[in-house]
Amino acid sequence: MRLLLVCFGSVALALTTHAVAAEKVHLSIDASKPGAKIDRNIFGQFAEHLGHGIYEGIWVGPDSTIPNTRGIRNDVVAALKALKVPNVRWPGGCFADEYHWRKGLGPLDKRVVGLNPNWGGVTEPNAFGTHEFMDFVEQIGSEAYISANVGSGTPQEAAEWLEYLTTDQPTTLAKERAANGHPAPYKVAYLGIGNESWACGGNMTVDYYLSQLKIYSRFVRNFNPAQDGKRQMLKIAVGPGDAGTEWTDAIMKAYKTHDWSWDINGLSLHSYTVVKWPPSFASVGFGTPEYSRILKSTLEMEDLVTKQSAVMDKYDPEKKVALVVDEWGAWYAPLPGSNPGFLVQQNSLRDAVLASLNLNIFARHADRVRMANIAQMINVLQAMIVTDKAKMVLTPTYHVFRMYVPFQDATSVPVTFDAGAYTNGDIRLPRLDAIAAKDASGKLWLAVTNLDPEKPAEIEAELAGIQVKSATGETLTAPKVDSVNSFEAPNAVVPKSVSVKAQDGKLALTLEPKSVTVVALEQ
Ligand code: AHR
Repeated sequence: MRLLLVCFGSVALALTTHAVAAEKVHLSIDASKPGAKIDRNIFGQFAEHLGHGIYEGIWVGPDSTIPNTRGIRNDVVAALKALKVPNVRWPGGCFADEYHWRKGLGPLDKRVVGLNPNWGGVTEPNAFGTHEFMDFVEQIGSEAYISANVGSGTPQEAAEWLEYLTTDQPTTLAKERAANGHPAPYKVAYLGIGNESWACGGNMTVDYYLSQLKIYSRFVRNFNPAQDGKRQMLKIAVGPGDAGTEWTDAIMKAYKTHDWSWDINGLSLHSYTVVKWPPSFASVGFGTPEYSRILKSTLEMEDLVTKQSAVMDKYDPEKKVALVVDEWGAWYAPLPGSNPGFLVQQNSLRDAVLASLNLNIFARHADRVRMANIAQMINVLQAMIVTDKAKMVLTPTYHVFRMYVPFQDATSVPVTFDAGAYTNGDIRLPRLDAIAAKDASGKLWLAVTNLDPEKPAEIEAELAGIQVKSATGETLTAPKVDSVNSFEAPNAVVPKSVSVKAQDGKLALTLEPKSVTVVALEQ
């Protein structure tokens, strides 16, 4: 009898550690019902002069022993190229409303050394200025999203910056640009008119901001002859920063009756996953309760986008103005020992799951959300890349962005499923999330996230409107919800291939707990 009990004990142990029963989930994808195009710009990045986001993260200077091209790190450029970054927002953030572009011009040893009072009060060497940013954007094959200084600058300063960047006429500013090494006009694809003007951008009322917006929209012109008609620079107004809709309402109401003298093409929305301010959740060293709490909070993006879109629909039913979520991501407590003004945090498997959920929300709202910028690209907040002198490591969030590349400009198709819930204490999360889209070559792509940190999910998908010949997939998971990549173990959280069966209009695969999976279906 005693022997029998011991045997039962070890069977139970084997079940809990190796064989947690998978949840069966039925999913339907209808490729014959194309929806909105998932704009590649929702995979945009944000690079602010903040901590080591620019200096050390991108810029090491031409004399550095770290391999670089004109001062820009080669390893970082190579890693970012693989993400096909559609646009980079720069120079801020709060920094933008104190940025004076002229300080970042000319020979490097003559640049104005100033201060960065927003972020740690450190010195700002201005070594990374206009030309260095445009060079960086070109090196990674992206587009420039310039954020103009509305807070402490003037319309004239911003207008001259754009003339300097974009005119092909022999003006004094164009000659200065040529003397600084770039005779040809630059392309500036997007212009942000201010940043968080209701707070760090000058604590303006919406009426005050609106009059500034009209002035900047009118006078800050793009003169690049290659940017006419459909290729024109898109202007993005400051929008809401939270659940309130007062700001959206006022800007969109004015937009509805605007005349020829001013225009906007986008309205910004900033929303961080923070639970409550100041950020207090640890970015590493946590368990499933904190994992669940953060994911619950990040899923609020769905309601936020729905609510803001509804207000925009009221004034702009044709959806001419995009909702631009140009600051999003997880914001945790600063890592112990780091400068709190540098916003340094770890990036774990939880952040990979969180990134996929937000990208899925943006994709589901593709008709209105046509641009988004995760905060921030390198070494700051929910970064793609972490550097330390010559070392570089790719984060779990980076891998999600890489896996989602095929969704850039793909056409969404409907996915339906009912996977039930995962419960942790009083927190209930949907067990699964998924999007699907068809790319220009006719390939169908499915992204599925299993939020459940304990149970695998056995997916059986029914496919309509497509004859699938073959299927391949890759999945991102790790042993723990807070697993991270470090300089010592850079491959702890990296995608691995997953076996997918596609036959007779059906698809079968098993999702690991707490995983993000992308499947390619070839017809
Ligand atoms: O991304 C960090 C900061 O968060 C930005 O500078 C600001 O716009 C926001 O409040």
